Amino acid sequence: MRNSVIMLVCLLTTFSVLHFPQLAASRYSNYTFPDNFMFGVASAAFQIEGGWNAGGRGESVWDTYLHEHPDFTADNSNGDIAADSYNKYKQDVIMVESLGVKYYRLSISWSRILPRGTDNYVNKEGVNYYRSLFKELLKANITPVVTLFHFDLPTPFMDLGGWTNPVMVDYFEDYARIVFTLFGDLVKLWNTINEPHVYCLHGYGSDYFVPVLNFPGIADYLCSHYLLLGHSRVYHLYDKHFRPHQKGKIFLTCEAFYAEPKDKNNITDVEAAERVLQLRLGLYAHPVFSENGDYPETVRKRINELSIIQGYKRSRLPVFTQEEIKLLKGSSDFFGINHYTSALMSSCPMQENWPVPSIDHDLGVFMETDPSWPIYASDWLAVYPPGFRKLLSWITKNYGTKIPIIVTENGMSDYGGINDYNRVSYFNEYLEQLLLAIYEDGCNVIGYFAWSLMDDFEWRDGYSVKFGLFHVDFDSPERSRTPKLSAINFREIVRTKRINFDYLKRPE
Ligand code: BGC
Repeated sequence: MRNSVIMLVCLLTTFSVLHFPQLAASRYSNYTFPDNFMFGVASAAFQIEGGWNAGGRGESVWDTYLHEHPDFTADNSNGDIAADSYNKYKQDVIMVESLGVKYYRLSISWSRILPRGTDNYVNKEGVNYYRSLFKELLKANITPVVTLFHFDLPTPFMDLGGWTNPVMVDYFEDYARIVFTLFGDLVKLWNTINEPHVYCLHGYGSDYFVPVLNFPGIADYLCSHYLLLGHSRVYHLYDKHFRPHQKGKIFLTCEAFYAEPKDKNNITDVEAAERVLQLRLGLYAHPVFSENGDYPETVRKRINELSIIQGYKRSRLPVFTQEEIKLLKGSSDFFGINHYTSALMSSCPMQENWPVPSIDHDLGVFMETDPSWPIYASDWLAVYPPGFRKLLSWITKNYGTKIPIIVTENGMSDYGGINDYNRVSYFNEYLEQLLLAIYEDGCNVIGYFAWSLMDDFEWRDGYSVKFGLFHVDFDSPERSRTPKLSAINFREIVRTKRINFDYLKRPE
């Protein structure tokens, strides 16, 4: 193992020295990353593991749906083998180690541990897999940051309506208890839920994501509500029963793109942008990170009013009890945030393709991207680095600096290849904005995880777009992995704690 890392590091170094000699006058970032800054890389179980029915694993909704609807993904693919990390996890650890980062964020496949979803049967082989993986990471001096739920709900729960059903809070707690009991000696950093907004909006409020519930304006809010309650239940479970002896930390991860007013001088555009941030991020962050807790008042008011106008007897946005508000408030040791892109906002009461009700209609905002922001593959991912700094400042302004921010995902997609100069600049420029957010705006950002360690199964896009620092050859049975230029560049940033914008320059 040690030899493989040394070989990979040598390969990376030789490659960069031979092909990219340092230029005499390199341009560096003005600031350096703090000494104990947490650099890491991220992945998620369904996107890399494969082994969909190996070692007693049960099915997740993504397995079941894609087997029944093979044309759901852009390239008719599924996650059956993915990057085969179920078998290749030792190589993954070597890759993480070769980057010089000390943290790896990954997720547990609920169905691998509890094949039926419920805790009356625990799959030993699944447990052994994760224990071996965590031990391998620790041996390499890498701290695992483990997400409990990253979109892949065990299929049996869909007969109960998935996360629209409040019983999911109990089942999520049961699952978490098993996981803390079985792995808490090895794992000290827990991430409860990944991106409730993306999961609920796309999977429950539209047909874009599995489980394709497509019940807009209602199921998406129910899903969000019970995910939040599930998060707080699991936070308190850990806090009370596991933290005292396991001594770890636990937190929630939200997603947000930055919402920029299309015309800064137009008050309705400014209000539209704020509405988007409050509904897409504040809906989840306010109950947990604000002083008063609960959903943001402006969001509550808007959905209540629209619900009544639409003829509903009560608000489509469920209501927390006082007890739930209290339990949610402060239930996260870090502010986990995933950020990829930004968009321009203008006020717009209705668009032809918006169902009523729906989150789009509740927002009443037309979103577009600035034509000067490049898009390299995924149509939703326009590159606008300053949006990152603005988002971090918005979070700081709204929720203060007491709870440290960890950027749990950030990255960009292209159509593949190891000479990924666009990704090299993306990371350079986004990380520079992060430094400005820390040093010039006073944001308390303590960590950054690049998405993703390697090319993976990108949900609806299948394998058609690539986010990896490492290329994966999905045509080879070995799923061989090769470092891209972005891996070499990221490793240099981690090593020097500084950005050298000329380290890997695109040849003229
Ligand atoms: C998700 C990842 C996904 C990434 C890029 C995030 O919303 O957490 O699972 O791969 O975006 O699409």
